[in-house]
Amino acid sequence: MEKKEIITLLNEDFVRELEASMIYTQNSFLMDECDPSRVTEAIAVDEMRHMWWLADLITKRGGKPTMEHRELDFGEENLQSQLKRQIKLESDGIEIYTHQIEIIDDEEVVGVLKHILDEEKRHRKEFRERLDGIQG
Ligand SMILES: [Fe+2]
Ligand SMILES: [Fe+2]
Repeated sequence: MEKKEIITLLNEDFVRELEASMIYTQNSFLMDECDPSRVTEAIAVDEMRHMWWLADLITKRGGKPTMEHRELDFGEENLQSQLKRQIKLESDGIEIYTHQIEIIDDEEVVGVLKHILDEEKRHRKEFRERLDGIQG
């Protein structure tokens, strides 16, 4: 795979991480319940850390991280919808990272993506536990 293609994929990841970090930050402000709010806030910080890791890979390969995110979809303003939206974002990320790990032939990139993938799986588990908690 050409360096340019890898940069394009990494930038798509970077934008998804940017969007997730902003959506989680906003949701954490709006959640009344303390525990899901704290968890969402902490995970927003993880997503920003993923941005740093991806930006490092992008710039090292001569690319520039793009901040051009899509229109943000925060979902409905209730805890159940917010958690479902967050679980969906994690699932999308898990699917995309899993695929990229299979097709990218750059050892350093694959190593970082595997680490991010593990964290996204943990995030989804954390959100699912909170969703199960309110659904009884
Ligand atoms: Fe992430
Ligand atoms: Fe995540």
